[in-house]
Amino acid sequence: MKNYPNYSFTNSLQNWYDTHKRGLPWRDISDPFRIWMSEIILQQTRVIQGLPYYEKFVNKYPTVHDLANSSEDEVLQLWQGLGYYSRGRNMLACAKAIVSDYHGKFPTNYNELVSLPGIGDYTASAVLSFAFNLPHAVLDGNVYRVLSRLYDIDIPINTPEAQKAFKTLADSLLDKNNPAKHNQAIMEFGALHCVPNKPNCGQCIFIDSCAAVRLNKVDRLPTKLKKKPKQIRYFNYFVFLQGTKVFIQKRSKKGIWKGLHQFPLFETQKSVQEADILQHLSEQYGMVNPEVLSVNSQKHLLTHQTIYADFWVVPQTSFDINRNSDIFEVDLQALGTDFAIPVLLNKFLESSVITDICR
Ligand code: ADE
Repeated sequence: MKNYPNYSFTNSLQNWYDTHKRGLPWRDISDPFRIWMSEIILQQTRVIQGLPYYEKFVNKYPTVHDLANSSEDEVLQLWQGLGYYSRGRNMLACAKAIVSDYHGKFPTNYNELVSLPGIGDYTASAVLSFAFNLPHAVLDGNVYRVLSRLYDIDIPINTPEAQKAFKTLADSLLDKNNPAKHNQAIMEFGALHCVPNKPNCGQCIFIDSCAAVRLNKVDRLPTKLKKKPKQIRYFNYFVFLQGTKVFIQKRSKKGIWKGLHQFPLFETQKSVQEADILQHLSEQYGMVNPEVLSVNSQKHLLTHQTIYADFWVVPQTSFDINRNSDIFEVDLQALGTDFAIPVLLNKFLESSVITDICR
């Protein structure tokens, strides 16, 4: 291991970075559009998962104008599988705002940036430092971990108090001559070396100055406040078939999966039986004793919710469409390709169940 006894914190860090950094396509570029897009994609997403999405988006939308001219359905379709769909929606809204309010140029002012959809302190600081080399320290999960250990800070990192304290510290450590490299380096150090579990402290460049090593607290830092227990939900989806057609609806503007399409949904407080389903079909859709097949069940985990989904197929649907104005008919083939749908529904479509029934 190299030793840099006389180097300052940031020089040690940047030397470490030169040796260990991963080659990633959003690094060593200065196009704010691409940098911003990579940061939106990488929020709550691992680099390995985000990489193919970054490539897809950059290829489809080489400039902020191309993205701004797109539609929400198109963006959400490309976003499919990344989760947290509001990021995709905000990304489009932000591109439109940059084109209409800033002539397609990213503002270089922090307050202007954070007033745009989907841009908070982290993304604004990332864009300003990576694209314009401006002195704004980034704070992401990696930076919180590195700083909490180096300085033995046990303020729970998911609190506003921590945001303030860590931001002050991160700003004071920032290399004002090269904020871009400093920020990339500290994030990379957290991602690759100062990792959450069993970091290799014996080989760490900061072993002599790290408070957590000295106090034997590495595995207890950073701290977090306990989250609320997950909400458990029961979704019953109706796959109303008419030949090769199926009926779908667009999810409302509130809650999870805003604006995505789905089969007509009946949400219940607990798991239900066929008798409950038949009663609902009669009351809601005026169907009298239709044939119903329970064909597929899935458990779907989200950050704050666990969803138990049952798919109920009605092979020969006849009902009064006017009673349910939010429902419309599409070609089954087109569902997975022309409409953005949650991953849960995609898994159902990819299972052989539906093709077996339609055969
Ligand atoms: N995660 C979020 N932003 C990142 C970046 N710029 N480089 C690597 N990982 C990241």
